Amino acid sequence: MHSDFAQRLIAWHAQHGRKGLPWQNTRDPYRVWLSEIMLQQTQVTTVIPYYQRFLARFPTLTDLAAAPVDDVMPLWSGLGYYARARNLHKCAQAVVAKHGGAFPADASLIAELPGIGRSTANAIASFCFGAQTPILDGNVKRVFARCFGIEGFPGTQQVEKAMWALAESLMPAQDTGVYTQAQMDLGATVCTRGKPLCGRCPLADKCVAYRDNRIAELPMPRPKKTVPERESCFLLMQGAAGILLEQRPPSGIWGGMLCLPELPAGDDPSHYAQQHYGATITQWEELPALRHTFTHFHLTLRPLLARNATSTAVSENRLRWLSPTDYASAALPAPIRILLERVPPAVT
Ligand code: ADE
Repeated sequence: MHSDFAQRLIAWHAQHGRKGLPWQNTRDPYRVWLSEIMLQQTQVTTVIPYYQRFLARFPTLTDLAAAPVDDVMPLWSGLGYYARARNLHKCAQAVVAKHGGAFPADASLIAELPGIGRSTANAIASFCFGAQTPILDGNVKRVFARCFGIEGFPGTQQVEKAMWALAESLMPAQDTGVYTQAQMDLGATVCTRGKPLCGRCPLADKCVAYRDNRIAELPMPRPKKTVPERESCFLLMQGAAGILLEQRPPSGIWGGMLCLPELPAGDDPSHYAQQHYGATITQWEELPALRHTFTHFHLTLRPLLARNATSTAVSENRLRWLSPTDYASAALPAPIRILLERVPPAVT
């Protein structure tokens, strides 16, 4: 199997690989890098419009590096994992500062840049420079675990180390970009997490999990941790100029994004609004709650709509009144956008 793993995937890709995605048919590292960052944790169909809007706004790495980070965040609104966008901007600036504005061709230099791990660096190097550098993302880990019958959760250091060694040993010298894409495509379209299409798999006749009827068992799942439940109230303070939003600090949940004022469920909204936002609210109504799942916890958002709000603190530049015409271009996390869109139009 080791001997023809790569050749089988490359041959399979010629017939069945995904073609014509917007980031294919280019060797421009800027475009390839952008697509790889967006595609981490996010599906192809979700990414496509974001990718196109991003490139329309920032056609080159130089354009991205020259822009303020606050111009980048709106283009990530709704994609989640906002640290990706902040690192993207940092990385563009690092490529300008350290490499004269052009991505280095050496995978180990690419991996030193902000927000780029070993697998992503290797993907870029193989796609753009034909480097013989293997990837090891979630799709490849699943294919390896099944095909070679590798036990243990692939997120552990020990399993990951073994898989990197395997990835290095399987890496072909030719067609490196095609091989990289073939692995991604097999994992995404055939060797899927649930209900894999083993009847269409070019590796099935040598697959350990298929042979042993262990497709559902491999890869082994993350050891179960209970995900905590949290809840907060979110203030929709409506004034003459719209609804009051606040830019979050650069790190942490929704870092750098615009958010509604958040207070612990049970705190007094009127007191909180006065203390933290210099805002006066006298009445509010509860709107239906919304549940959102993050990587490490679930959050119930309890929106409180307060009409006729006034604030004396809006000159602080982390605070902004936003009207519905501003929503489209604002750096809003998905659940906050949903809450804003539920607010009935202001009565004037
Ligand atoms: N997921 C991560 N990278 C990808 C790519 N280049 N094509 C399709 N899906 C991907």
